[in-house]
Amino acid sequence: MIKQPILEMINIKKSFPGVKALKGVNLRAYSGEVMALLGENGAGKSTLMKILSGVYKKDEGSIKINGKEVEIQGIKHAEELGVSIIHQELSLLSNLTIYENLFLGHEITSSMFKLNKNEMIKRTEELLKKFDFNISPKTLVKELTVGEMQMIEIIKATSKNSKIIVMDEPTTALTDVETKKLFEIIRQLKEQGVAIIYISHRMEEIYEICDRVTVLRDGEFIGEELLSNVDKEKLISMMVGRKLEEQFPYRKANLGDIALEVNNVCMGKKLKDISFKLRKGEILGIAGLMGSGRTELAKLIFGEYKKTGGEIFVEGKKVEIRSPKDAIESGIAYLSEDRKKEGLVLNLTVLHNMSLANLKRYEGRGFRINKEMELRDCEEYTKKLSIKTSSPYQIIKNLSGGNQQKVILAKWLLNSPNILIIDEPTRGIDVGAKKEIYELLNELKAQGKAIMMISSDMEEILGISDRIIVMHEGKISGELTREEANQETIMKYAVGITN
Ligand SMILES: Nc1ncnc2c1ncn2[C@@H]1O[C@H](COP(=O)(O)OP(=O)(O)OP(=O)(O)O)[C@@H](O)[C@H]1O
Ligand SMILES: [Mg+2]
Repeated sequence: MIKQPILEMINIKKSFPGVKALKGVNLRAYSGEVMALLGENGAGKSTLMKILSGVYKKDEGSIKINGKEVEIQGIKHAEELGVSIIHQELSLLSNLTIYENLFLGHEITSSMFKLNKNEMIKRTEELLKKFDFNISPKTLVKELTVGEMQMIEIIKATSKNSKIIVMDEPTTALTDVETKKLFEIIRQLKEQGVAIIYISHRMEEIYEICDRVTVLRDGEFIGEELLSNVDKEKLISMMVGRKLEEQFPYRKANLGDIALEVNNVCMGKKLKDISFKLRKGEILGIAGLMGSGRTELAKLIFGEYKKTGGEIFVEGKKVEIRSPKDAIESGIAYLSEDRKKEGLVLNLTVLHNMSLANLKRYEGRGFRINKEMELRDCEEYTKKLSIKTSSPYQIIKNLSGGNQQKVILAKWLLNSPNILIIDEPTRGIDVGAKKEIYELLNELKAQGKAIMMISSDMEEILGISDRIIVMHEGKISGELTREEANQETIMKYAVGITN
């Protein structure tokens, strides 16, 4: 028997000034199933989902819910039709509390105009509990970490009894434990007959949680398949339109002097007696579970945190790094994992977002900015990282999520630091562009830069590191050469088994 879709979007078209974002796209979703929506950065995934959730109006095409044609008028109307969405960019109000955000627009009232605060707080408590989320409903959203905000978005979207739930890259900021929790909730929602549309650049997730897949490429509909009928290679080639020969292009290191030396560094209970050396021309992979202290270590070296013991040497000289400014002056750059929270001025152009942190580079005579060089750099990196933008003068908030991330990456690469610490470099980046980022890191390495790469992506760590350090509970639990390293040994060290 052929299953009837609860949702059908047929031949959807949508243009923005200078961009045909959707050129006639189809998408179906089925009750009790998860439909993966895949495609490269800028393919049109979020745009299609914003049309479904009433944020944008389509130019052409038709939408049917339960076989009935609907004209979605706006966000509220989409919700009434049973659609809810977890947006890729965070959309909570940061000055409100958790419970106020959860009930925004659906406030519970006790009499005509009186809000029933206690009831909302009580229900919020129940929802938080369902997710094992131990936090007061009265906490202000701005006090949460990005991951926690994402959890609140997820709770919000799943608490409305919707028939169709869209999840646009829900796990990019989540820990492994939170991701597991989300998958459990997804399984429950499936049992209740909810149809889910799931966007992610993480292939393992797709195969773990999804039933079918729809692929878009450059605003076009490429196909819909049962996931059991397509393997990873096939999916990648549907997405990028060609075969990706070597996903992890490794280049042999040509090691130089020691660029960074960390000796017995401690930070309270968070980091304990950390020692390692990083050479010029080397990519040092830092593996470990979330919470093992990798990001703390990076932030400490970058001067965002203070050490409580130990020494740091840059090119053989002892340094006291008290702030990120000191770090930058010592030739250290840090690309943080919290790219949703920092790094971009949304109302500025692609060009200015790239050059802002690097104004020194463009200082011409008499403090005039060397505009030609600024533009040349921007064009070069747009090409190198295949950033999808209609022009260097496009306002950055109009770029797709993944392309915004590439701009942040370009900004730091342009800074050409001698020591680059990079935290989860390819999160939210599509498979094709990932490879381009690896090529770029290889190029930096060949230029003699020293790179420390924190990553939770095991294949990535194994694929492009020259050497790997594994962290566990604030300590280095193991060090492996590229030749020694494999998934098993890394996992063993990551959970603290050291023999
Ligand atoms: N408001 C807007 N104004 C102008 N262009 C836009 C706007 N929103 C999206 N675009 C463009 O439409 C195209 C599709 O973007 P979309 O955000 O749908 O991509 P995506 O598939 O979600 O990518 P990602 O994986 O990076 O999130 C991109 O070229 C993007 O720059
Ligand atoms: Mg998107």
